Amino acid sequence: MQTEADQMSRDAGPRYRRLADELGEAIRAGVLRPGDRLPSVRETCRARGVSPSTVFQAYALLETQGLVEPRERSGYFVRALRRPPRAAPAAADARGDATPVAVSELVFGLVGSAADPARVPLGSAFPSARLFPLAELARSGARAMRKLDPDQVTGALLAGDPALLLALRRRYALHGVALADDELVITNGAMEALNLCLQAVTRPGDVVAIESPTFYAALQALERLQLRAVEVRTDPRTGVDLDALAALLQTQRIAACWFMTSFQNPLGALMPDARKQALVDLLARHDVPLIEDDVYAELHDEGRRPLPAKAFDRAGRVLHCSSFSKCLAPGYRIGWAAAGRQAQAVQRLKTMSTLATSLPPQRALADYLAQGGYDRHLRRLRAALAGERQRASRLIERHFPAGTRMTRPSGGYFVWLELPPQVDALALHHRAMAQGISTAPGALFSVDGRFDHHLRLNLGHPGDARVDRALRQLGELAGAMAAGEAA
Ligand SMILES: Cc1ncc(COP(=O)(O)O)c(C=O)c1O
Repeated sequence: MQTEADQMSRDAGPRYRRLADELGEAIRAGVLRPGDRLPSVRETCRARGVSPSTVFQAYALLETQGLVEPRERSGYFVRALRRPPRAAPAAADARGDATPVAVSELVFGLVGSAADPARVPLGSAFPSARLFPLAELARSGARAMRKLDPDQVTGALLAGDPALLLALRRRYALHGVALADDELVITNGAMEALNLCLQAVTRPGDVVAIESPTFYAALQALERLQLRAVEVRTDPRTGVDLDALAALLQTQRIAACWFMTSFQNPLGALMPDARKQALVDLLARHDVPLIEDDVYAELHDEGRRPLPAKAFDRAGRVLHCSSFSKCLAPGYRIGWAAAGRQAQAVQRLKTMSTLATSLPPQRALADYLAQGGYDRHLRRLRAALAGERQRASRLIERHFPAGTRMTRPSGGYFVWLELPPQVDALALHHRAMAQGISTAPGALFSVDGRFDHHLRLNLGHPGDARVDRALRQLGELAGAMAAGEAA
């Protein structure tokens, strides 16, 4: 049987990529030098025996990698070698004490006002909706609902649509994650799954370990359930610091951990498999459940989908949550929890709160998955997001003041900036908003507003002609603040 992994490994080496790799090597080795013109598309087609589209794609990839640039009517030229890339932000020290959470006012104030579509959405949590197969999904929805047996409309609603549950289990199995028969519950987006899982394993006043910085909606979920947060130092590349977590577990009673193990929001950190395994083992020794927020794993740049921590869990202690919101169907609000030994508790909480998840979007997604186009869509989406992140990161390099540090994630669509210490990110946010640009200031991402010269930027809007100018304006505003100029 042809597995998805086979398919992915074949796709890992398409011709255009091999051609781009060879030329990239020649540029890095100095064989092709800044200012050299690449052979014309026609010459390369003839020399390599490949099609024009292969050459175009290879040259476009080299362009997104910053190695060549097109010049009007003259072809592609090797670019001058760039300045050394910006350093990544350092992992910040996390406060180790349990803190009641009260962030909602700040979050509602900042995030609500950023949602205006007239603003350039650098503060948004979602990538451009134009990247998604909305027309195919609509066709799937119409087809699935026409075929619906009236008896199914209210039957089997509780855990979710059986066809969607099966499709999800099969996808997990293909990625090496075996889910139990009755473990999955379909929810209203990942957010409901996460909230239900948190509720299943905590009581008001409990302490929950979170990453530092962390996604503001995780803070709001803790606030809603009157939980206290303890922040764990988190490396921008490799995620939660396991030594710091081990030390916390020795000294405090932690009711649960809530971590984003792949492409953490806002850092973009990806925990290597061995660390995910070590995390699961550490929590097993202390009998602490892990709520795994995994909504970005499908958005990896290359290679295979990163495994979730759930893949290493033998004891049902990982409550894994994800959704289609970021990778296939924004606005459909379809997510799920695979809650291990808490599955029944989560199912009951779901029944007690919203009973079940709306059927039509579930049916649409089940039909769409059965048509077989999902992986093709994901490949396109990943390439578009990776290309745009690299392109826009270069603009940040160019326009932001000296001393700005920037993450370089290998997936997702966020970058996290550490601005020079003179730049107050909240003030920068307000000045940018006045110029029609939203941002997500660092104060949103901790219990005490600590990341006050940090910004999360959403680079998931390829083709939005406003982005380049917005990044330049934002960089100039930050530059003026770094130089001590008044507003
Ligand atoms: C880390 C993380 N988890 C969960 C969510 C929410 O997912 P959903 O839209 O499926 O509820 C988001 C959305 O921004 C997110 O960034």
